[in-house]
Amino acid sequence: MYTPEMLESIRKVEANRQKNLATEPRRMTAQEKEDLLAAFHPDYRKDQFAELQVGPNAGEKAPLELAELLQSRPRVLDLMPDLSKTDFEADVLVIGGGGAGCAAAIEAQNTGAKVLLVTKLRVGDANTMMAEGGIQAADKPNDSPAIHFLDAYGGGHFAAKKELLYKLVTEAPEAISWLSGLGVEFDKAPDGTMITTHGGGTSRKRMHAAKDYSGAEIMRTLRDEVLNRPIQVVDFTAAIELILDEAGRASGAVLMNMETREILVARAKTVILATGGAGRMHYQGFPTSNHYGATADGLVLGYRAGAKLLYQDTLQYHPTGAAYPQQIFGALVTEKVRSLGAMLINREGEAFMHPLETRDVSAASIIRECKGRGKGVTTADGQGVWLDTPMIEIKNGPGTIEKRIPAMLRMFGKYGIDLRKEPILVYPTLHYQNGGLDIGTDCQTPAVPNLYVAGEAVGGIHGRNRLMGNSLLDIIVFGRDAGRSAGNRARETELGTPTLDHARRYQETLEAAGIDTGKVSPRLLPTYNSMGKDF
Ligand code: FUM
Repeated sequence: MYTPEMLESIRKVEANRQKNLATEPRRMTAQEKEDLLAAFHPDYRKDQFAELQVGPNAGEKAPLELAELLQSRPRVLDLMPDLSKTDFEADVLVIGGGGAGCAAAIEAQNTGAKVLLVTKLRVGDANTMMAEGGIQAADKPNDSPAIHFLDAYGGGHFAAKKELLYKLVTEAPEAISWLSGLGVEFDKAPDGTMITTHGGGTSRKRMHAAKDYSGAEIMRTLRDEVLNRPIQVVDFTAAIELILDEAGRASGAVLMNMETREILVARAKTVILATGGAGRMHYQGFPTSNHYGATADGLVLGYRAGAKLLYQDTLQYHPTGAAYPQQIFGALVTEKVRSLGAMLINREGEAFMHPLETRDVSAASIIRECKGRGKGVTTADGQGVWLDTPMIEIKNGPGTIEKRIPAMLRMFGKYGIDLRKEPILVYPTLHYQNGGLDIGTDCQTPAVPNLYVAGEAVGGIHGRNRLMGNSLLDIIVFGRDAGRSAGNRARETELGTPTLDHARRYQETLEAAGIDTGKVSPRLLPTYNSMGKDF
């Protein structure tokens, strides 16, 4: 399956394997990390960012592709929905059918609210479903939420909003119990205790997993729970603009049926944006580990309604996307592979970094190895470095790979690569948006009353870099909380008069600033066709 050049490099990996196992590279110093990031991390490439000219973050930088969407014409203005007709009415409108949206819908329904969940694909088509490695929670005797906080705060470059991170780590053990109670089958030892592992930047083993299908197991459970409750779920229906009322409160959304393009109006007393990430924006031309609908649409909707973004200029490039074969280019190779002992090795068979540095540092280190030092392995799509997976069974015994990371075994096995016997080729892939909409501890945006945000569309929980397993955690902690807050707020709210004036005003501001991108937004699906036409 591998090319002759790759096989020649693999021989060097094999020849050095015992030596590499015996002498794991040391961790980098803080200064070494800073220098490395500045030179090789994509977030530091000045030519890939633009200054926003309009909106709550005017004057700040954003990735070129996001800046274009944020400053494009609201597509709703060309569709003229009739706001006097109502197609759906609810107390709480949840936009997004991933882990955060489902957790929010469940808790909102628990408050007694009438809940409507709309999703542009199907409920469960989300980054949650694709998450592999696990979910962090400090629930072992040698660990504590305080230690979890320190790991995540440092890993995020001390930039997280402390009150949000505090909430994340202190509510983590309860999140695991809640998921277990709903039926999530976490990996357990024969005595029933949870099996936990390290992730990059963790000082304790606190990653709870369901093999390497953790997200699918969580999503399956949440989806079943939503579908078994009196929650109205509308698939294949995207939100294209928020509706506000005369007091500027979030009050529903204009929807588009993805199949018929029919325009629909949903009215609600409170709205939760749980629209997920942005991998399908392919920032800087990177491939992505994200699901098909990850297009930053929630950021665009919230921003135009007046909500501020936080850290919109920082993205997470997962260090180990599949670099070969082409059919799985960019697919996630879980960090758990490194937690279990596989090391990153260059073309010459040299272990060039500690395998569990934080993600931004690991990604930059791989990019340096390929682009800075010329020690990458060349492929048709670019370059990669080896992840020496046979080390896993040398360290942990035969059968470990089949038992702990069966999804990886299958994914590469389909293409004739047996990762128990040969290494796999990896390169960073666009994985997560660290930034998003700014919220308070009740998940509400300070600028737009009755607008709540949960999941990957939130900015500030993780600072400028997220640790593995803290995203599956935040969708549960903040998803549940957004649901409770929005449900309770809906009880105190009367529906006002619906308006789209904010979208009209936004367009006027764009025109006054002389901005015309020639596009409409939000983008609902990625553009892969030869016509390059957005949907
Ligand atoms: O590597 C992984 O399994 C990804 C986990 C995460 O993004 O939290």
